[in-house]
Amino acid sequence: MDQANPNDQAPGAEDFRVTPWEVEGEVDYGKLIEKFGTQPISQELLQKINRMTGEVHPMLKMGYFFSHRDFDWVLDKKEKGEDFYLYTGRGPSGMVHMGHIMPWIFTKYLQDKFKSNLLFQLTDDEKFLYSQDRTREQVERFTYENILDIIAVGFNPRRTKIIVDSKHIQHLYPIATEVAKRITFSTARSVFGFTNSTNIGMIGFPPIQAAPCFLPSAMEGKPVPVLIPAAIDQDPYWRMTRDVADRMGYYKPAQIHSKFLPGLGMLGKMSSSKPETAIFTSDDPEVVDKKISTAFTGGQPTVALQRELGANALGCPVFWYLRYFFDSEKQSDERMLRCKSGNLLCGECKSDLSKATKPFIVEFKKRREKAKDVVEEFMFDGKPFEK
Ligand code: TRP
Repeated sequence: MDQANPNDQAPGAEDFRVTPWEVEGEVDYGKLIEKFGTQPISQELLQKINRMTGEVHPMLKMGYFFSHRDFDWVLDKKEKGEDFYLYTGRGPSGMVHMGHIMPWIFTKYLQDKFKSNLLFQLTDDEKFLYSQDRTREQVERFTYENILDIIAVGFNPRRTKIIVDSKHIQHLYPIATEVAKRITFSTARSVFGFTNSTNIGMIGFPPIQAAPCFLPSAMEGKPVPVLIPAAIDQDPYWRMTRDVADRMGYYKPAQIHSKFLPGLGMLGKMSSSKPETAIFTSDDPEVVDKKISTAFTGGQPTVALQRELGANALGCPVFWYLRYFFDSEKQSDERMLRCKSGNLLCGECKSDLSKATKPFIVEFKKRREKAKDVVEEFMFDGKPFEK
């Protein structure tokens, strides 16, 4: 049993709060590891990945993926010849921004390196239920738009299936009811922080997100290891799912957890509800420029002060964007040193970021257009993957 005490997440218990639906305050990731009962990514684990794949992805090396459960176990299984599935997802509540695609880029890297099959879930039901003013039509539109982004990331079409909850519910429902039957309201309430005013659709939803953890086993007729790359805010789902896995005769799903990508505003999760602080994959280059030029930075109020005192790279979203998306490790380390010592001004970083982001987005948009022709091929059909 994973021993996080979810009641710890009560608002006000800490200066930050992380649930699948809300991230508030400045997140202390070390504390989250303790609170959620996960493992930090160790040097040993990185070495093992290096041994198996000949490379360590920068998002691992630089700590964007910072925590896990049973990732080592999944790799052991793989070494012994047992393949694992990947499972990740997206709640289609808006257009996709760069924060969203980071874990997907990483998931593609895992898929390529380990030749894994991938299930990608779109929880249109969850996003419809969550907000009283969201209509089914809105969620349906975002579902379609988001699918284009998912395909544009470049997942292997032979090894990737997209599951849209409301469309493919017949494949999830038998497993979801098996999960639901084993979870009491009392547990769900404490894991997810439900209250008396939570609508009952939300309360009944979590088993639907758990179902793809076991779908590969159902498809293959034997227990199949599953690894979930996801931002750490999704962890309550996996704690719940792991608790029932044994009793259902399946392996517990393994996880690898990412941090949140800071928005271009003050630190905190990049949010679609504050569009000026997020770079969307559908933004035009001029909009990208504008957003970056008005971004929050870790800089001092004046150039003179910055030269004298240096700036705060670690608290600067522009720095993190460059580090995770575009700089090499070496470039990024140098950037940090120059920033801290006052030799680098924010204008230069912003211009570097703009120059790198614009061609990235232009290219990504082309791929989104092409994706329109292959949407059907990516849809889940209940059939096992080709061997
Ligand atoms: N609940 C997630 C969200 O709101 C979507 C999701 C479904 C997901 N299944 C997942 C995310 C698996 C990561 C991994 O974004």
